[in-house]
Amino acid sequence: MKGVILAGGLGTRLFPLTKITNKHLLPIYDQPMIYYPIQSLVNAGVDDIMIDTGGRKSGDFLSLLGNGKDFGLKHLNYTYQEGEGGIAEALGLAEHWAAGESVCVVLGDNIIEKNIRAAADDFRAQGKGAKILLKEVHDPERFGVAELDGEKVKGIIEKPKDPKSNLAVIGIYMYDGRVWDIIKDLKPSDRGELEITDVNNWYIEQDAMTYEVLDGWWTDAGTFESLHHAAKLIAESGANHMS
Ligand code: G1P
Repeated sequence: MKGVILAGGLGTRLFPLTKITNKHLLPIYDQPMIYYPIQSLVNAGVDDIMIDTGGRKSGDFLSLLGNGKDFGLKHLNYTYQEGEGGIAEALGLAEHWAAGESVCVVLGDNIIEKNIRAAADDFRAQGKGAKILLKEVHDPERFGVAELDGEKVKGIIEKPKDPKSNLAVIGIYMYDGRVWDIIKDLKPSDRGELEITDVNNWYIEQDAMTYEVLDGWWTDAGTFESLHHAAKLIAESGANHMS
């Protein structure tokens, strides 16, 4: 399985911190934000990784990360998203590189305490379809929210006003090689973006989606509150650091 890290966008919710740089280069305690999703993939046994960037200072990723030697990698791949077309559009940029292979997609501002190795191994054994990771939160209306039906996911609603559960869909997704064709058929949402939630709902409709509830804490870091919270969590736990 290959790994794609989505690290583009303008990070407008963090202005003026992101006025001259990319959100994923900002520090979270003692490391740049982008280090954490790379380490999450490496910990899951994924060592062929594409960094999908865009917006401001995208060249700085190359200066910072090079070929990924600090993470024990031999090589890193990079691509560039023009404009702000959404998470699913950004993922589509990796198609030529990933071809028909399965991918683990990580949003560059999603930080986890522990390891997704077991979930990645389960998905490798699953062989096809998709897998998402869920986490209980106190503010589900900020996220994609899953409604469960026993062992299955019934559907996901993006930022619902009236959430059907407190289970947020975290920004780590595993897809089989069909994902590239699904993205091509997506229509922009009301906010004019190709939504990852629409990709996930396609797999749910095909009865091809599995889920796991994440062990350990999870946070995003795209707002002042969550950026501060992430730094605190890392400072207190020392989680997910480069070895
Ligand atoms: C995105 C996804 C949402 C997901 C979240 C996780 O939201 O659209 O479904 O729950 O990431 O961080 P965004 O951060 O783009 O608002």
